[in-house]
Formats: sequence, C-alpha cells, structure tokens
Amino acid sequence: MGRNVLVGITGGIAIYKVCDLVRDIRREGYNVRVVMTPFAERFVGRITFETLTGHRVLTDWDVDPLAHINLARWADLFLIAPCTVNTLSKVALGIGDNLLTTTVLAYDGPLILAPAANTVMWRSAPVQENLKKLKDRGVIVVEPEWGVLACEEEGEGKLAGKERILDWIHYALTPKRLKGKRVLITCGATREYLDPIRFISNESSGEMGFSLARVMRWEGADVKVIAGFTTAEEPPEVEVIRVRTSEEMRNEVMKALEGVDIIVMNAAVSDFRPKKREDRKIKRRGDLILELERTGDIIGEVGKRKGNRFLVGFALETEDLEKNARRKLKEKNLDMIIANPHDVMGSRHHRGVLLTREGAEEFSFPSKLESAKFLVDRIVRAISS
Ligand SMILES: Cc1cc2nc3c(=O)[nH]c(=O)nc-3n(C[C@H](O)[C@H](O)[C@H](O)COP(=O)(O)O)c2cc1C
Repeated sequence: MGRNVLVGITGGIAIYKVCDLVRDIRREGYNVRVVMTPFAERFVGRITFETLTGHRVLTDWDVDPLAHINLARWADLFLIAPCTVNTLSKVALGIGDNLLTTTVLAYDGPLILAPAANTVMWRSAPVQENLKKLKDRGVIVVEPEWGVLACEEEGEGKLAGKERILDWIHYALTPKRLKGKRVLITCGATREYLDPIRFISNESSGEMGFSLARVMRWEGADVKVIAGFTTAEEPPEVEVIRVRTSEEMRNEVMKALEGVDIIVMNAAVSDFRPKKREDRKIKRRGDLILELERTGDIIGEVGKRKGNRFLVGFALETEDLEKNARRKLKEKNLDMIIANPHDVMGSRHHRGVLLTREGAEEFSFPSKLESAKFLVDRIVRAISS
C-alpha cells in the first residue's frame, strides 16, 4: 500500500480546513507533501504547510525545473483540496498553467478532488460538464456538502468533511480484493420495548460493524449495513438501513440476503423481549414483574439458508469464550466466528479469537479499525482459498 500523499492546494476559502486535514493525513502515517497554486498562497502562506508536513512546499519551478515530474513520481496518491472550480475545470480540460496543474498532467495514479465553492459557481453549467468529464475518466470527486458557506448563503458547495476525505484516501490506496462482492453487515444494539418509552438493550456501539463496513468498501466491496442503535460514526459512502427491534432486524436481513456473497452478523441482538408490550407508559406503582420470551434466532436462520455465502458471526462471552464460540460456529453453520471477551463492548481497544473449522488465531489491536483490517484480510484469504 502506497504511503506518499501529494496534496494540491488551491485558492478557495475552505483552505483553512485543509491545514487540519493535512495534519491528520500525516498523523495517519502517510508521508505528505504539498503543492500550492500561486493564488492559494494569498490565503495561507506556505510556511504553515511546511510546518505541518515537514517538507518544503512548492508553488513554482524556482528550486527544481523538474518539480512537476519529481512530485508526480513521488506520489502514490494525489489529492486536491480545496479544489477551486477553476482548477477542477483546468484538470478536466488538461490545462497545465501552473506547477499544480502541470503536476496533474505528469501524474497517472489515483486522483481525488475535493471541491468547494459558492453554490452558483458549483452548479454552473461549465463546472458540471467538467465534473462529469472527470468522473467518466475515473477521477474520484468527493462532492461538496450542503451547509452555510463563506459567502453566508446556505446551499451546496461546502468542502466535504475531513472524515469523508480521509476515507476516500484509504479507499484509493487499498487493493480491491473484494471487487464485485456484495457484503451485508449487521451491527449495533436492538431495543425490545416494554412500553413506548422503555426498552431492554445493551451497550454495543456499532463501531466494529461500521469499521468492517469501511474496510470492506476500501477493498472494493458493495457494502450494505443494517444497524440497530449505535453511538459510533456511520461509515462514509455506505448504505446504512436503520432498525430498532430484533424483529425489524430479522425482517431487513432476510430481505437483503438475495445476491449477497458475504454476511457479517455483528449486531448485538437481544435474546429476550418482553412478552407483552404496553401501548401506554407503564405507571410507577408497586413492583413490576417482567415476563420475557426468546427473540428469533436470526443468525441460525441465516445459517440454514446460507448456500454458498460466506457467513461470519460474533460471540461475546463472559466465560468459556473459545468453547462457546466453537459451539456456535458449528450449531449456526458459520464459516468464521470472532469470539470477544465482554470487556471489548464499548471499548476502543479490541481483542479476541478468530475461529474457523480449521483453527484459531488470537488477535489484539489498539482500535476496532485495526481489528477490522485484520479480520477483512482473513475473510479475503478464506474466500479465495
Ligand atoms: C476570498 C475568496 C474566496 C474564494 N473562494 C473560492 C472557493 O471557495 N471556491 C472556488 O472555486 N473559488 C473561490 N475563489 C475564486 C478563486 O480564488 C479564483 O477562481 C482563483 O483564480 C483560483 O485560482 P487557483 O484555482 O489557481 O487557486 C475565491 C476567491 C476569493 C478572492
């Protein structure tokens, strides 16, 4: 995986947000270099980006007559952010009239543009035509968002959020080992209601499932997530269907099974629900004895209908982790199960044991995203073996 990210910076007011973005790209472990248009320097001096990247920032050929070739050769990925509609149009038309646009012409790797502009400028016919040209050519355009703009109007044109841009960088630099595969992931906690207000639930944050969705999208899969309640950030550019109860989760999962190649059942589905759900709020008088009944066994049902699909389950246990997980692997007809000790729920650090019919592998990572990379790698290997 390439680690050299060249950031092209143009003269848009959203440049102040890109100072933060450049710092974050570097913090994620990439080597970052910056090339600016002369107009961009009127907004923020190159010294800011030199400090943030640890490299000299170039705006012209003063120090290196082959700067456009050398920068293009160095880069594994070229991101232009903020990308003015002026530069976007020049890139679409193949114009090289400054170091940045000339470097684009000398470069043939993955290119990401993150434009930002006033709504009327963004929506203008030439810009939209040039945008289409770029997309048809395979350039990734992280389209601007709706919001209050620097011109104090509200509309489409705001620079995409940092998380979205970072996600596209990972996407562009990840090999597409799951290209053509359709993936269904469940995650988050279900709620089983006693009355319209109160419910039985658990502490699942959804972070593991969302991280798996992100990594699988990076690998080129077409990912759909069915999520209960979550506190983690939704993955960018992934379809997320929201459900509340285990019954809704079951219905959505069954609807989505058709045409899916890989199913990852990560949701913390309630095993029990109140036998009776009151229509009105239960009044506070005396003690309340709740009678619970079993909810449907979604993973068991999917296991029976799985056919050629690769089915991954999760088991969270307070005792006999590996033994219980291995039993679930067999009983539910799974291809892989990830057994987690209960303390991973809601925590950033993640550890567990990955079990297949062939063996077991322990893992421990500082974040669920790192665990997700490891688990997706193992899924890819298992389906290609
Ligand atoms: C204060 C100010 C803010 C600007 N903001 C934007 C912007 O957000 N998006 C954009 O496309 N152009 C914006 N422009 C216009 C560009 O700066 C202008 O088209 C310039 O020629 C871009 O040059 P470059 O693409 O070489 O950096 C702005 C101009 C000024 C003076």
